[in-house]
Amino acid sequence: MKKIMTFVLAMVLSVVAVFAFTGCGEAKKKLVVYTEIELTAETYAFAINKSNTELKEDVNAILADLKENGELDEIINSFFDGNAEFTYTNPSAPTASNRANYFVVGTNAYFPPFEHYEGNKLSGIDMQIASIIATELGKTLYIKDMEFDSLVPAVEIGEVDIAMAGMTVNEERLKVVDFTDGYYTSAQVITVVEGDDTFADCKTAEDVENILKSKGSNYKIGTQNGTTGYMYSAGDEGFGYDGFKNLTTKGYTTGALAMQDLRNGKLNAVILDKQPSIMITKSMNK
Ligand code: ARG
Repeated sequence: MKKIMTFVLAMVLSVVAVFAFTGCGEAKKKLVVYTEIELTAETYAFAINKSNTELKEDVNAILADLKENGELDEIINSFFDGNAEFTYTNPSAPTASNRANYFVVGTNAYFPPFEHYEGNKLSGIDMQIASIIATELGKTLYIKDMEFDSLVPAVEIGEVDIAMAGMTVNEERLKVVDFTDGYYTSAQVITVVEGDDTFADCKTAEDVENILKSKGSNYKIGTQNGTTGYMYSAGDEGFGYDGFKNLTTKGYTTGALAMQDLRNGKLNAVILDKQPSIMITKSMNK
């Protein structure tokens, strides 16, 4: 009996081993995030139309309460720990005649744990805060999921009341929209495939940057379009910041698509916000 069990176990293990190497026909490499090396220091806040000072004051008051009573920390921790239960089913879209009853939130729901889908329901830290704000305002929450780089323009033209999307406050955006008080501090981090020791000896952002500066145009960094990660890598002309013009920055519609290309060997590294990098790689490395 014992022998049979051992044999069965050996069979199972060898099948598992073969799958680990081949995946679905192709070797999938694990992704390694340099979580300790923060390349930037960023604050997330919600973007509101410059003329809507009333909403900004309301949201700031709600945020202040959530901070003071510990609820904000609770929400954030529950999503980091993976035991959050909040999900939201979008109602049908507001119409011209009932628009005033809705709190319309713009997001890009591919940024766990701030906004993402659970099946076809919305979830994430920003989504839970959005639902609290809607309740406080006595309105129905409607989430408009769009490309990240459409969010600031959507706030500007009033297509959405607010953008809640793990969005970093920066000078560029402040020219066109207002921001609420901050609710989270974050950073860009770099991810490579397991076994790539390019950054293995790095301890600081400067160490990473010196290596990045030494690369040529055949070195490819993936990031999400319109984000601070993109600006960090490709530069930002408006602010006379050159970024790493020596290498190639490739923009993707979502961070997960960049990570996928990294895993498939089409990129050398990905630069993305820290917590989303951790969450996305964790699910891909499974
Ligand atoms: N924090 C970065 C920025 O503001 C990335 C945000 C991406 N958010 C998203 N929901 N996809 O540019």
